[in-house]
Amino acid sequence: MTTIAHLSDLHFGSEDPALTVALREDLLAQRPDVVVVSGDLTQRARSREFAAATAWLESLPFPRVVVPGNHDVPLWNPFARLRAPLARFHRHHGDDAFPAWRDQHTAVIGLCTARSLLWKAGRISAWQVDELGAMLRALPAHLFKVVVTHHPFVDDSGGGTVGGAARALDLLEDWGVDLLLAGHLHRGFNADVTAWYPGRIRSIIVAQAGTALSVRRRGEANGYNLIAVSGDRFAIAVHGEVDGTFTRIANTGFRRSERGWITCGAAG
Ligand SMILES: [Fe+2]
Ligand SMILES: [Fe+2]
Repeated sequence: MTTIAHLSDLHFGSEDPALTVALREDLLAQRPDVVVVSGDLTQRARSREFAAATAWLESLPFPRVVVPGNHDVPLWNPFARLRAPLARFHRHHGDDAFPAWRDQHTAVIGLCTARSLLWKAGRISAWQVDELGAMLRALPAHLFKVVVTHHPFVDDSGGGTVGGAARALDLLEDWGVDLLLAGHLHRGFNADVTAWYPGRIRSIIVAQAGTALSVRRRGEANGYNLIAVSGDRFAIAVHGEVDGTFTRIANTGFRRSERGWITCGAAG
């Protein structure tokens, strides 16, 4: 079994300090195989915010896959924004265009959807789809395949999906992607792309994580997803903040069928 802790929208600079302690405690108790962070590590892409985010992540003894969000591009510094929009992010998290991790069951690949000129909306470029495809095709077929972006493929609140989503999905279907992890919306939910994109016939599950640490919540508690992958089944548990600690507040199971992934109710 593989356990993935999917955190998003940490927003150091507007983080709740008590929750940084509570979230670390819960993660240390859960002992995930890998921690995925789907962007917006900082509030304003300031150096001190990146330093705080990095120190916090490095206090967790787990491998990481981290992609940037729009808040990790400096909005108020036009020179930095256009010339080297992700310089600070790269200084702290490396400049690998496709950060990746895998074990014998699961492969996780991240890609950057943050853009200096599309500050809020984000985009997946054609070259990224090409390179991602080469990576996915090189993986053993039996692996559970996870792709991580900051901007979402499904948005049920009207804010818009990542640019290039439909074109990318054409190929992610072919390449056997099972799960898409994203953030940005500060709302946690699960969905199947077949319900949102007409003509999709192979299901890919979308897991959105809410904001893990920011005080800027959008009507729901801070939280993250703890994803357990085991053979032809996986489950997405939501660990939400309740009375100052992170507690399992939902758990949805999925199993592979001839029609794709189908939900099998609350998992244990
Ligand atoms: Fe955010
Ligand atoms: Fe964002």
